[in-house]
Amino acid sequence: MSRCLSAHVHRTTRAYNPSIRYTGGGWLCAKMVGVVGREEVPVPEYRVVEICAGAGGQALGLELAGFEHELAVELDETACATLRCNRPHWKVAQGDVASPAVWDPRDYANIDLLAGGVPCPPFTVAGKQLGATDERDLFAWAIELCAVVAPRALLLENVRGLSLPRFSAYRQHVLDRLSQLGYVADWRLLQASDYGVPQLRPRFVLVAMRPADFAYFSWPEPTGEPPRTVGEALGDLMAAGGWRGAARWARRANDIAPTIVGGSKKHGGPDLGPTRAKRAWRQMGVDGLGIADAAPSQQDPVTWVPKLTCEMVARLQGWDGDGYEWTFTGRKTASYRQIGNAFPPPVARAIGSRIRQAFDRCGQPRELVEQTSVTHDPVYAVLRGDGGFLTMNQILRRLPEPMEVPAFERHLAHLGRDFRIEVASRKSGDAYKLGEFMAFTGQADHLRHEAFVNPSKIS
Ligand SMILES: C[S@@+](CC[C@H](N)C(=O)[O-])C[C@H]1O[C@@H](n2cnc3c(N)ncnc32)[C@H](O)[C@@H]1O
Repeated sequence: MSRCLSAHVHRTTRAYNPSIRYTGGGWLCAKMVGVVGREEVPVPEYRVVEICAGAGGQALGLELAGFEHELAVELDETACATLRCNRPHWKVAQGDVASPAVWDPRDYANIDLLAGGVPCPPFTVAGKQLGATDERDLFAWAIELCAVVAPRALLLENVRGLSLPRFSAYRQHVLDRLSQLGYVADWRLLQASDYGVPQLRPRFVLVAMRPADFAYFSWPEPTGEPPRTVGEALGDLMAAGGWRGAARWARRANDIAPTIVGGSKKHGGPDLGPTRAKRAWRQMGVDGLGIADAAPSQQDPVTWVPKLTCEMVARLQGWDGDGYEWTFTGRKTASYRQIGNAFPPPVARAIGSRIRQAFDRCGQPRELVEQTSVTHDPVYAVLRGDGGFLTMNQILRRLPEPMEVPAFERHLAHLGRDFRIEVASRKSGDAYKLGEFMAFTGQADHLRHEAFVNPSKIS
């Protein structure tokens, strides 16, 4: 049973003031701004539906960018409790986002923004990269959702793994499908550390809008400030229990945090990630083998190598400072998982602000030619364009750029992991035809549904 652990969550009274201001990341043209703590934030004017909302990292960032939640959908009961605890007025639907029993996307037709951080395990390099055939994959389904909801903009974030060559055909399929639905889309690998978060945390982000809006969209510029070190970010929390080694520890922890990994229910208890990450933590004087219940105490030796608490990890994820107050429900493992899987709120805020500016038509419109012509997988593009059987030589001849045979074979092998490839023997060698995309896009008979018989193992 989840409990809302503290009651310090507040929504500061907002004072309104029409203005245009410079934020360091470009001109922010806000018709109206309010104040949270010492910071100005836009008055919510646009509505968002968020899927796979987790503990609300992305949700909080979008709220600070001026988006009001119409609905948040999330599978995990404790994460739903966190959302409800922090924003009792939000409508939160718990369950499998793809289940008609949980919500009806048609009720949210023409919403301003459809956003989500769909599960990362299908794409992460720390996993098997099963992509479309991983029962947890919801990326392709989220794209298909645009056909029903027709949002003004789509924002999806995922791990860096999705940006790798292994998934070039998957990405191509996504862009092609969005284009069929009337959207222009772009992907960008963003580093959380570029947006004031003291952690590396690269995230691969997709934004799609209709051409008239997209012409006004640009990715947020890095703040230009060097990220704080772990010691600078956490020094006060490490000292909170009276530990005499805190100052010494903070000097030693003089680097940016490695990417925090929340893990999945399949993965087990909380720790700070794979062996390499644990080693990096160790060098900064942090024991990454688990999460502590409390900061070190007066009794702990000066040379102690402490574990981080959930509060510390939340700070490293960007829940830090005015406007970012947040409470996490559940026991330690459940809390840590919610925090560790989050999209840092400051990064979501930066992107949300740019989406909002595009809606508000701030700045000069751009030519969209470059954006639409990006080809992620030329082999996929040729096969799909033709629709029939083609031999390797026929494919190679049609590619816009020369490709060596080993590279072709790699493309084909990757393709075959997400799409069915039919092979026919020809005198001149094997011929290939691009078959069905194996990802879940809403099929009632898809294999993923079997996994949801026991949803406690999902995510
Ligand atoms: C990467 S996390 C999202 C983090 C969130 N955006 C944030 O910033 O805090 C992915 C979330 O998807 C949820 N999830 C996984 N499968 C789901 C499903 N089928 N339906 C709804 N939510 C699901 C997980 O419980 C997890 O909270």
